[in-house]
Parts: sequence; C-alpha cells; structure tokens
Amino acid sequence: MAADATLRELASRLLSARRVTVMTGAGVSAASGVPTFRGADGLWRNHRATELATPGAFAANRDVVWEWYQWRRSLIAACMPNPAHEVLARWSQRAGWCVITQNVDDLHRRAGTRDLIRLHGSIWELSCWSHCGGRRDPWRDERIAIPPAELICPSCGGPARPAVVWFGESLNAGDVARATEASRCDVFIAAGTSAVVYPAAGFIDVARRAGAFTVEINPEQTDASSAVDLAIRAPAEEIFPRVDRLL
Ligand code: OAD
Repeated sequence: MAADATLRELASRLLSARRVTVMTGAGVSAASGVPTFRGADGLWRNHRATELATPGAFAANRDVVWEWYQWRRSLIAACMPNPAHEVLARWSQRAGWCVITQNVDDLHRRAGTRDLIRLHGSIWELSCWSHCGGRRDPWRDERIAIPPAELICPSCGGPARPAVVWFGESLNAGDVARATEASRCDVFIAAGTSAVVYPAAGFIDVARRAGAFTVEINPEQTDASSAVDLAIRAPAEEIFPRVDRLL
C-alpha cells in the first residue's frame, strides 16, 4: 500500500507540471487479464520469443506464428480496460499530458486515450509481409476465426503479418521522434514496465536528462527503480485512481 504522503507529493508535482508523460508496459493491462511477458506467468516463460516474435520465425513457419497471435487476439478480445486505462484516458484530454505505450493490446485506445503513441504497434492491425508498397499504413483486421492463408495484403494478395514490432526490427521512426519529444516533460511516469526493452526503457533517461521528475509505478523492483526520483511499489490500477482523486 503506497503511503498517502507519497501520492500527495506526486499529485502536487502533477498539478504544477506543464507537460506530463506516462509510459506504460504490460503490467498496466495485467489487471484486465492480459498476460505480461516477463515474471512468473509471463508469456516468455512458456514461449520462446525467437520462435514466435521475429521475422525469421514468420518466414519459417507463418501458420505457427499466426496461431500464437490469434490465440493472444482471442484472449485480449475478452479483456476490458481497467481503472488505470480509464484514468490515463481522462488525463490524455489535458493539454500537455501524453501517453506512450509499449502495449499492443489496444486497451488504451478502447478506454478513449487521445494522441496515444504506440511504440510496438497493435495486435489488431496487419501489414504487408513483403512491403509491397500498395498499403503504406497498417490496416485494421480483427478477425480471429480465420485461417492464416486468408490473412492477406489487400493490395498484392501476399501474406499479411501482425503490425507489431518484432525482435530485431526497428520501431517506427516517427513514433520514436514523438516519444522522445514527449519524454522531455516536467513529470514522467513509467508504469507496469520491466524497463529492459529499448528504446522504450531509454525514454526514462531522456526525461531525467531533460530535468523531469521521474516516477515508477510497479509492484516489483526493476532496472529503473534506482534511477527514478520516486518508485511507487504498487499496482497501476490502484495508484492511478488514487492519484487522480487528489488532482
Ligand atoms: P514485462 O512483462 O517485461 O514487464 C511487466 C512489468 O509489469 C513487470 O515489471 C511487473 O512487475 C509489472 N506489473 C505486473 N503487474 C502490474 C500491475 N498491476 N501494475 C503495475 N505493474 C505491474 O512487460 P513490458 O515491460 O511491457 O515487446 O515489456 C516490454 C516489451 O517486451 C513488450 O512490449 C514486448 C515484450 O517483448 C514487443 O512486443 C515488441
């Protein structure tokens, strides 16, 4: 249980800030029932990332990779945004307040978050595997009960892939630029992330170097815990509503 005084300090920092940025990771969706990647029940405990979330894996066995993504899509489809998503959606309406996410589940979007920066894409969007150029931007496709052979690029008819960032791939340069800019803020909160995947984890340093008051919200200690100004060791779905009530 985080102390009231700690949360009052955070609230007062937020109230005097001009620019506030919250970066979220899988832990923010944990209370919604979406599995995280690392930790006791994390996806990477039972699945080898290199066999599922890499371009090489897709090239070698498209059906297996699609089966895994369709399983995750069906699981996420049954999940609802939790109080952390709801508070962040409200905060995103404030001028100068911004949400960056590493999550591909779209729960921030479903909660109504404005101007969301999605660093790792969306599991509900597809893109052309061969970059045919006919469709520059990913397109939405929420069909789950469909054979992988029918998930094709509407432009060239070749295979479509989940429009998420896989290991070994670069993030969208425009998203990184927007996130870097957003990280140069007055208060930067990293919530529900193990802070080990870059470049996302590096935005905490960008914020600190820009003079931001940095905060972590996570029930566990992470690589970022000792580097932030305030580490709140508690679940995001509990802390965001409590801080929100103090604003
Ligand atoms: P991780 O699974 O690495 O870390 C989740 C973090 O959430 C852990 O530090 C948990 O302690 C914390 N956590 C768990 N429950 C929480 C709660 N209720 N409130 C707050 N925190 C909680 O997930 P990410 O850091 O998001 O990449 O992982 C980063 C990237 O690695 C993901 O985006 C994914 C993965 O490989 C791609 O898909 C490209």
